[in-house]
Amino acid sequence: MPTKPPVLNLRRKILEMKPEAAFDYLVLAKIVEKEGKDVISFGIGQPDFDTPENIKEAAKKALDEGFTGYTAAIGIDELREAIADYTNERYGTDVKHEEVGVTVGAKGAIAFSILAYIKGGDEVIIPDPAYPVYEELVKFAGGKPVHVPLDPEKGYSLSAEELEKYVTPNTKMIIINNPHNPTGGLIEEKELEGILELAKRKRIIVLADEIYDHFIYEGKFKSALQDTEWRDFVLYVNGASKTFSMTGWRIGWLIAHRKVIEKLKDFAVNTTSNPTSIAQKATVEALRGPKDEVNKMINEFRERRDILVRELRKVPGVKVIVPKGTFYMFPSFERIVNEAGISTEEFVLKLLYTKGVVILPGSAFSSNSRWFKYVRFAFTIKKERIIEGIRKLREFVDELLEEKGIVPI
Ligand SMILES: Cc1ncc(COP(=O)(O)O)c(C=O)c1O
Repeated sequence: MPTKPPVLNLRRKILEMKPEAAFDYLVLAKIVEKEGKDVISFGIGQPDFDTPENIKEAAKKALDEGFTGYTAAIGIDELREAIADYTNERYGTDVKHEEVGVTVGAKGAIAFSILAYIKGGDEVIIPDPAYPVYEELVKFAGGKPVHVPLDPEKGYSLSAEELEKYVTPNTKMIIINNPHNPTGGLIEEKELEGILELAKRKRIIVLADEIYDHFIYEGKFKSALQDTEWRDFVLYVNGASKTFSMTGWRIGWLIAHRKVIEKLKDFAVNTTSNPTSIAQKATVEALRGPKDEVNKMINEFRERRDILVRELRKVPGVKVIVPKGTFYMFPSFERIVNEAGISTEEFVLKLLYTKGVVILPGSAFSSNSRWFKYVRFAFTIKKERIIEGIRKLREFVDELLEEKGIVPI
């Protein structure tokens, strides 16, 4: 007699789905914090700023006015229009509101884009390392993730020539995340144009996740929507989470051909119904209202990036690759972990338990061992904390090597 209750007979594909490893480290960090340690976290991928006051006020107003019922499944027209106007103003594009669908976070737009196109046997090209959600969803859909390694020597950018090596007759989709989590790499204008031309020539869909498009510190960015033929092959993802410090509000959007958005509506009706009503009203204010807070936040991130680069360069054995965008950095710790004779996971855990500093191992963003000796820093903490965190990291490295009887590198 089988003893397993039927409720535990989940589909293999669900059982195999991996959590975002980043969250596991955050749970550990909370435990260490509870034990009374001062935790400095470079782990979390969300701005540490509060949502700007005018946006919160708009949500309160919506609540007071009783805007609390269901809305249209892909968002109220007022918001779809605001997204189209905001995008057009920023990129000189001609997006119409029928080409915008509001989703539950940018993740909602990513999930639809992958589940709506990918079936057994389809190959999806994903940059490696990457935001882990793409791979998990591609596998869930029955597709095959094909990893194109990013080159640290080229600032983790991606070129059409490199990409083309991974294209086969089964390639259905290319995912680009520009600028890129976890590396901070930027695909600049010319390279992006090359990739889009390749996709058009080979009739491949491009899922362009540009959620960090405000977080650019150097280099020439171009949006995939600026290709005049975008309607034929681009699924464009963005959202309010990062730009407006609204991660908990869960508002993202997909911009695509009008007929694709019609199907997104049917998908939404059958899954989420609609993104939260009052969060939609708040996002209208975010997009149409003053942007001073956003500009201040971006300037702050630029300064933090410079400080992190400066401080990390003082830690012997760390190979810094300066991020051009996002709020992440992905340096190599290869020399340090090799000298210390431990794995990066061990290094990260020891650093957390002894010094209370959280960083994430490369394995959280790739299953390829080539990235296992890299780590991700999120500079979503105050400048003084960055300096203090790196001081503790340096102290830890010195102690670790001394313990091994090695004179610090
Ligand atoms: C590359 C990338 N895309 C999408 C998301 C998810 O955004 P949202 O919180 O709006 O679902 C994240 C969040 O970390 C991200 O890094």
